[in-house]
Amino acid sequence: MKTLVVDHPLVAHKLTTLRDATTDSPTFRRLADELVTLLAYEATRDVRVADVTVTTPVAQAEGVRLTRPQPLVVPILRAGLGMLDGMTRLLPTAEVGFLGMVRNEGTLQATTYATRLPDDLSGRQCYVLDPMLATGGTLAAAIRLLMGRGADDVTAICLLAAPEGIAHMEEKLADCPVPVRVVTAAVDSHLNEKGFIVPGLGDAGDRLYG
Ligand code: PRP
Repeated sequence: MKTLVVDHPLVAHKLTTLRDATTDSPTFRRLADELVTLLAYEATRDVRVADVTVTTPVAQAEGVRLTRPQPLVVPILRAGLGMLDGMTRLLPTAEVGFLGMVRNEGTLQATTYATRLPDDLSGRQCYVLDPMLATGGTLAAAIRLLMGRGADDVTAICLLAAPEGIAHMEEKLADCPVPVRVVTAAVDSHLNEKGFIVPGLGDAGDRLYG
């Protein structure tokens, strides 16, 4: 598994305001949306394209187009929904699937309560959206589910990650035969005893949706 921390002053600026406890929900939503688009720009660096030739008003030009099947974007409900518009702004033709997952705040175990995905993901590139990579249980389970349906390239986009979560995913996905990447705006210090990222930004779902 590869982890990319996007190093850009605009990313850092938006993340800083997201972290600020005084940032209200409407501002948090708008900034999360903007930040995802910046992260998605880096996350789609390996999106599959094919060479094409187009005719300009002047001459022929060589270029590229996204190949079919189009990528699948999978927001993890609930908080991942706040990242969907920012992602589809860059990939408007992507198909969208949904995964509902929730972490038990006592045991920190993730369970899946809703799955709305194509049955066959053979040959598909998938982009999973979840703002927080804390223990990594949610994302590791989501990626395993996608690979179980045949996805052959998975990139997770997170606003924020904890080192413990990245280590957990590396361990859980060590035998994974397909490329897996995590793209994030920052890797923070650690998780606290409640499984929250420190310093983090709090509970992304609550800050987005109350
Ligand atoms: C949060 C967050 C991730 C998960 C991260 O969701 O949005 O999905 O926890 O935790 P983990 O890395 O330790 O598994 P939550 O379960 O609070 O659900 P929500 O999105 O509905 O708020």
